[in-house]
Amino acid sequence: MNPKNKAIMQERQEKYQLVLQQANEFAKAPADMVSLLANTCALLHESLGFWWTGFYRVAGEQLVLSAFQGPVACTNIPYGKGVCGTAWKEAQTIIVPDVEKFAGHIACSTFSRSEIVVPMIADGRVWGVLDIDSREVDNFGDCDRLHLERLAEMLTNTYKSLHSPIGEIYLAGGCFWGTQHYLSLLRGVVKTETGYANGKTKNPTYEEVYTDTTGYAETVYVRYDSTEISLAELLEMYFKTIDPTQLNRQGGDSGTRYRTGIYFTSPDDYAVIRQTIERIASRYDKPIVVEVKPLTSFYPAEDYHQCYLDKHPDGYCHIPLDLMAKAKKF
Ligand code: SME
Repeated sequence: MNPKNKAIMQERQEKYQLVLQQANEFAKAPADMVSLLANTCALLHESLGFWWTGFYRVAGEQLVLSAFQGPVACTNIPYGKGVCGTAWKEAQTIIVPDVEKFAGHIACSTFSRSEIVVPMIADGRVWGVLDIDSREVDNFGDCDRLHLERLAEMLTNTYKSLHSPIGEIYLAGGCFWGTQHYLSLLRGVVKTETGYANGKTKNPTYEEVYTDTTGYAETVYVRYDSTEISLAELLEMYFKTIDPTQLNRQGGDSGTRYRTGIYFTSPDDYAVIRQTIERIASRYDKPIVVEVKPLTSFYPAEDYHQCYLDKHPDGYCHIPLDLMAKAKKF
């Protein structure tokens, strides 16, 4: 970029710094990628005021138009085509000082004269690009590259957390010794931990929970790899171990601490849980009474209660052995 514009660049740098600060705030509580990208490009547009600012997302063999600010733009860009498709193919930022001199440039607006395209890369794969067009020739340089690449990194961190294959769910299914053992046998379950969920007191002990006055349910925290077991499959397997029509009772155990419950931390999981319960309900004559709520608290149980049946293979278990064998084969 033309070095005589030093004062302009100084001002632009300050604007970028504010944009990054604000974008960092957005990223702390992302609802989903669409809202995050929409707000981010509105922020860029408002602060920097370029002619066209927007995102394209990778969808199969092409880029598809996502959130943007500016004039109407082309919807699809094939891999390797235009500046955007080339930045995707090369997985690196492209600065085009004069769009008329870039062979294959796709002109969405006749006013665009220079352009910068920054790919967003997660684990070596481009998942989208940030594209900014200016009405002035030669309007992008290292300052833009540096800050926009930083912004792309921040967005990628959110993208990765929203698209992580690792899921978590908290399942109460009666005595947690057996439920933990059973769930830990399932392929795709990477971690389990017994504990107490959704009660009222702080740091409850087993003895306190046992009084049935704390509101806690014996619960198993489950961390799973959704590329190996989906939440729906995991819930189907969980339902095999309980009678979902029994209130505050499973096997020989009774009390609110032995209620059945599905406690979720990701709002997206709610729909999957409801659909699974509807499916299960059609197999019973009586209503399903499994509690479904967002997780409000979880305290890991004492060491003594962790992996109890591994330590005491002949210990009490309300889940039949043939189900344990099925879990191993899942
Ligand atoms: N000029 C881009 C197309 C997108 S518009 O600029 C919004 C390109 O050549 O890939």
